[in-house]
Parts: sequence; structure tokens; C-alpha cells
Amino acid sequence: MASVHVANSITDVIQKNNAINRQTILGLSTGNTPKPVYDELIRLNKAGTSFRNVVSFNLDEYYPMSGSSGKSYHSYMHNHFFSHVDIPSQNIHIPDGSIAEHEINEYCKSYEQKITDFGGIDIQILGIGRTGHVGFNEPGSGIDSITRLVYLEDITRQDAKIHFNGSPVPEKAITMGIKTILEAKKIYLLAWGEKKAEIIAKSFLQQVSSDCPVSFLQGNKKLELVLDEPAAAMIQNEIQVNRI
Ligand code: PGA
Repeated sequence: MASVHVANSITDVIQKNNAINRQTILGLSTGNTPKPVYDELIRLNKAGTSFRNVVSFNLDEYYPMSGSSGKSYHSYMHNHFFSHVDIPSQNIHIPDGSIAEHEINEYCKSYEQKITDFGGIDIQILGIGRTGHVGFNEPGSGIDSITRLVYLEDITRQDAKIHFNGSPVPEKAITMGIKTILEAKKIYLLAWGEKKAEIIAKSFLQQVSSDCPVSFLQGNKKLELVLDEPAAAMIQNEIQVNRI
């Protein structure tokens, strides 16, 4: 299974780094897509791979958003992953959606600086949104974009409605930029299901453009595109596919 392949690849790196007492820096994402990878990582942690030397940086958080809200990505990460593994809480970094608006620029710079101080992200996990976003880098995001406050597209807010139980979906978010993501040493972009087939085809078969930010990953040697059959349906005759 694709998510098992990704989880195994991650724990291989963690184990190699653990053996030489080196930290592993993970870039993590939220949404439905990474859940099976987190499930498998939790299983592998219980089976013996220690996450004590793992440091994590999440891609994004809604703004404004209290970390203690059940709708926050802070809650998502604790519920789906962090509370089940032995990663030390001080190693976890998630953009803070409760920061005062006038402090956001400085805050975003410090988030970038922290990633740099840890030597950069070893492995970045990504999902893809229907607008072609990664993180919350919506259409119009440039290849040089870094962590910042952004406005969310209507489609993105509509897709998020299901998690907000009738309360309004925030209009903004703090997200790592395309540049931040592209600097990771290894990138896994995951997509499951036929509803992702069209945006995957647009991202990888059409011209690279900020209209579809995922297209900035086209041809990137560090990228492994991990799809199930339905998500790959519109590209498998066009680009070489390795079945796993
Ligand atoms: P999903 O969201 O994993 O819930 O489909 C992906 C995204 O919007 O990045």
C-alpha cells in the first residue's frame, strides 16, 4: 500500500539518523490524505522505531485560530499523530494561529529561521487541494513564497466546511511558502481517490504556473508522487509510473 511505503521510507531515515544520534526533521501536513501514513507511523513507533529524535514543522494553520480549538490543525495533529508517538512536545512546531496580526510578519520569519536552524526539512509530506494548493499556497502563490499570512480560496473554505460544524471557516491562514517546501531534501506528494485525478493531471501535465502552485513541483528530482490508481487515472498514460 502507498501509505505504508511512505511510512516505511520515513522510518528508514529516522532509524539511520537515530543510529548516529542525528535528529530527523519532518515537514507534516493535515487533511484526510496523510491520515493512513500517520496510522502506519504510529504502528511503527509502537513496534520500536523511536521518534525521540524527530523534530516536526507543520505546513499551516488557520488564522485566526486558537490551538486549543477542536477545529485547529494543532488539535488535528495531536489527535491523529503526536499523542500516539514518543515525539517530545518541545520538538513540535505548528504555525500559531493565535498570534496578534501585527506580530505575524516577525513570527513567520522566525518560523522560517527555526527550520533553517535545524538544518532544513529532511522529509516533507504534502497533500493537494482542489485549487492546486500545497499547504495553503493558493493560486497566485509564487515560487519564492515563504511562510506568511494568506487568504483562502472559496473552494478551499467550502471543502473545509465539513470540519467546522456550521461555524464559519476562517478566511485566512498562516502557511509555509512554496520556497520553504521546495527546500526540503525529500518530498512526498500524496493523493488518493478519483476526486484528485483532475488536479493531479493539471499539476503535472500542463505548464508550470502559479495558477496551480503544485505545478512548481514538476520535474523536481526530490519529489516522489505517491498516488492510488483512481488519483493516477488521468496521468498514467502520460508519465512513467512505478507500481508499489
Ligand atoms: P485533503 O486536503 O487531504 O483533506 O484532501 C488536502 C489539501 O487541501 O491540501
